Amino acid sequence: MSYKITLTTHDQQQFSFACTEQQNVQDAAEAAHIYPPFGCKSGSCGACLGTCNTGEYQLESHTEAALSTEAAARGDILLCRTLPKTDLHITLPYDASAIQQTLMAPRVAEIIRLESIAERTLQVTLQLQDDPETGLAFEFEPGQFVELEVPELNLMRAYSIANTPNWEGRLEFLIRLQPNGKFCAFLQQATIGQQILVHAPSGAFVAHKQSLNPRCFVAGGTGLAPFLSILRRMAEWGEDHPTHLFLGVNKEAEIICQDELNTLQQSLPQLSVEICVWKPETNWRGFIGTPADALKIHLKNNPSADIYLCGPPILVETAEDIALKANIPADQIFCERFM
Ligand code: FES
Repeated sequence: MSYKITLTTHDQQQFSFACTEQQNVQDAAEAAHIYPPFGCKSGSCGACLGTCNTGEYQLESHTEAALSTEAAARGDILLCRTLPKTDLHITLPYDASAIQQTLMAPRVAEIIRLESIAERTLQVTLQLQDDPETGLAFEFEPGQFVELEVPELNLMRAYSIANTPNWEGRLEFLIRLQPNGKFCAFLQQATIGQQILVHAPSGAFVAHKQSLNPRCFVAGGTGLAPFLSILRRMAEWGEDHPTHLFLGVNKEAEIICQDELNTLQQSLPQLSVEICVWKPETNWRGFIGTPADALKIHLKNNPSADIYLCGPPILVETAEDIALKANIPADQIFCERFM
């Protein structure tokens, strides 16, 4: 039995394709050469989130962090875990530009910079090799992520890109060194010139340009990376969108990219930056608490905003809850969780 699936994007573009009862919606879309953003394809990352408006379906196993019980009860789904029982109409929280029509083959890149920029945080820069079709260029939308693969170690991890598309083929990442993390162990012994594979850009965590609302960016640690990319693009294009960035760290030694943010503020005078330290160890004079705490205070005086959240699931869920309680509509809240 085959059903008709219709996807409607945030900018009201529609994509339709057939899906059998045994197929999940993500696989069926890809079989029709429609590539909505995805990550793990196993129900654990939340990258393939959508909302089913009409139709019946079976939701296969997934983690609570990728899709909470409450969100599932509201009709939210994960495309990679949804098997149709009828025709389905699904809305997606991003524009059609985030959906690819072809999937780029992985590109080879070399590590050209590997620098510790704060406690347990690396800044990693990759140089892509020349490609016969695209040269050095690598197209992506600021805010998106790529999967980095080390084939000989059977390692693959997704990281948000921190810089903007460029003709030099450079990709920059902020990477938190997780204790016992296999990819982090690889990076700690990696050398300049070492090769790595870069997969196609994915993800829908991009700035919604049609909205005139002020933007609130809430970042936990290296969750700053997609915001850096978006802010750098805003600076390149001279965008004057009012933007408030709340960057959270546990302690002062973990603060990252302060000089970069100061530079961005010179190009973007409408950008305010609040560094939030949860448990300061010195005479910290800035905000004490989490960026979710700072957002809560901010929304009391600024009730209209688009909210962008990136970082550990607990931070994202707390801040999302705060935004919903402040009457920010759910379709103005955009989340990217670290898994
Ligand atoms: S791609 Fe569906 S949850 Fe990760």
